[in-house]
Amino acid sequence: MTDIDWDELRAAATEAMHRAYAPYSRYKVGAAALVSDGRIVQGCNVENASYGVTLCAECGLVSELHMSGGGQLVAFVCVNNDGHTIMPCGRCRQLLFEHAVPGMLLETVSGIRTIDEVLPDAFGPRDLEEAAR
Ligand code: THU
Repeated sequence: MTDIDWDELRAAATEAMHRAYAPYSRYKVGAAALVSDGRIVQGCNVENASYGVTLCAECGLVSELHMSGGGQLVAFVCVNNDGHTIMPCGRCRQLLFEHAVPGMLLETVSGIRTIDEVLPDAFGPRDLEEAAR
């Protein structure tokens, strides 16, 4: 695994957080990830008057991943308004899993962890492929 510049990733996540649209919760979130080809993708949360429609920052990040050329996520960090590292919500761990290299690293509230540690025994595309055989 190449060296990961966590400070650079956190700065990119913080920049994204400032662009969040969170008028209802007032809880701004920014996410950033290193992609397998070395580029960085970002996302911010986008809320909605119909609260359940809210998009987490990770949704925007995964959209940018594909819009900017695809690839897989190597390292990920997510921050809140205070610039504190936060955990991706359960739904977003699932979202990230499908676009992550095996063993993708996350900066978490308890240190650097792998995607498998934060989403053990994940359901994924392989389960569908196996069922189709
Ligand atoms: N939020 C994210 O953007 N990502 C997460 O992983 C956790 C939660 C957002 C959704 C909502 O706009 C706000 O944080 C409060 O839940």
